[in-house]
Amino acid sequence: MANVIVIGAQWGDEGKGKITDLLSRSADVVVRYQGGVNAGHTIVVKGQTFKLHLIPSGILYPNTDCIIGCGTVIDPQILIAELDQLKKLNISTDHLLISETAHVTMPYHRLIDQASEERRGSHKIGTTGRGIGPTYADKSERIGIRVLDLMDPDGLREQLEWTINYKNVILEKLYNLPPLDPEEVIEQYLGYAERLRPHVVDTSLKISDAIVRRRNILFEGAQGTLLDLDHGTYPYVTSSNPVAGGACVGTGVGPTMIDRVIGVSKAYTTRVGEGPFPTELHGELGELLCDRGAEFGTTTGRKRRCGWFDAVIGRYAVRINGMDCMALTKLDVLDELESIQVCVAYDIDGDRSEYFPTSSRKFARCRPIYKSLPGWQVSTTECRTLEELPQQALDYLKFLAELMEVPIAIVSLGASRDQTIIVEDPIHGPKRALLHPDGTPATLLSA
Ligand code: GDP
Ligand code: IMO
Ligand code: MG
Repeated sequence: MANVIVIGAQWGDEGKGKITDLLSRSADVVVRYQGGVNAGHTIVVKGQTFKLHLIPSGILYPNTDCIIGCGTVIDPQILIAELDQLKKLNISTDHLLISETAHVTMPYHRLIDQASEERRGSHKIGTTGRGIGPTYADKSERIGIRVLDLMDPDGLREQLEWTINYKNVILEKLYNLPPLDPEEVIEQYLGYAERLRPHVVDTSLKISDAIVRRRNILFEGAQGTLLDLDHGTYPYVTSSNPVAGGACVGTGVGPTMIDRVIGVSKAYTTRVGEGPFPTELHGELGELLCDRGAEFGTTTGRKRRCGWFDAVIGRYAVRINGMDCMALTKLDVLDELESIQVCVAYDIDGDRSEYFPTSSRKFARCRPIYKSLPGWQVSTTECRTLEELPQQALDYLKFLAELMEVPIAIVSLGASRDQTIIVEDPIHGPKRALLHPDGTPATLLSA
């Protein structure tokens, strides 16, 4: 048995969908533990592209149970559209289970998310506009609607009549928006409830049953470490905990049950939305990364900001997540470059620092200190073993692994399942902390 958490080590879109799909081959259960339809996870199998927002990336394997855990927020309309889309493609969704205690995104959440972003003006966060922040805010304020409320028509009616009248005051008085009709929303959501009912269970029981039976569970993170509400670049973050610690809270599993944490990182960096980004490239090079990496948001279609690899945040992600090994994606995007920069430290007001600062104002003042490495300028997309990689690419990987003190167990060289090098078994191979008891750093070629 191995219970594994897959997390994003940067600002999201690292390729978690591809890596989760790849590892799902040996998983019995795949669980999403936080976030909602702000996520967009892309899987490419035999030339066919699947874009998932809420459904776990294990869904393509018919014998893998997929669970949407209690720490997520669920927009039923989009979830149902996802179910329909998969059905059209002849992908079974019978093995999808939804937590009774996950919170539900309502129309007023989306309206408030979008209106509050507009009101913030230059202080906006650049959210996906999917109502994620307001849904989690209602959860904390203890006025949220949960999936189990949806399943109880009388209770839902009573709860929503009160809540919608309360939210209408905010919509009308604060944002000058027309009020919502409670009856209309109730009818709409009762319809969604019937559609989702067959999937709704106490998922924590299912997961604990799977643990007892020693089945392999894969916890799929959404977003990334730097978007974490507590550990990210606050306030430019999402409203949940994408870090590995979030997997326990968001599913109802004790930390003693977790065997591995695998971080996913791009071979460079991207970010969508507002907030500081020290290694961002504004000129031609940024455009080149964007073009070669097809860096447009899976959920909103927004152009992703692109920049060099930042090993300071990489090291931070290793620490905050207790990362055992890393999957490095999109190495192929760097194929054409003559030279490649890696941020090894920051200059903060004239002082060198190798640590990610807790203050976002300080983070905005960080200037990257780069180390330049030679590019390889040949295509890597067909490489399937380390030996086939050009020496400069191997040196690049080794340099990153040494800087972050984490072994790179998987290298991804294209969007397809098969465009992957498995350097060492990410699930059963040696763990980071055990690699070098003498204290020497972990390297790519650790085995
Ligand atoms: P996620 O949110 O972390 O699952 O990542 P996204 O799916 O939003 O974005 C990653 C994008 O990169 C998707 O379009 C993937 O198909 C694509 N991708 C994943 N791995 C690779 C890779 O190694 N090389 C290239 N060129 N594309 C990749
Ligand atoms: P995946 O799972 C990249 C960003 C938004 C914004 C901030 C807050 O595909 O990696 P929100 O709508 O969550 O309140 O927006 O977080 N964001 C993402 N960026 N990938 C994602 O998900 C993201 N989900 C949210 O762009 O900056
Ligand atoms: Mg994404």
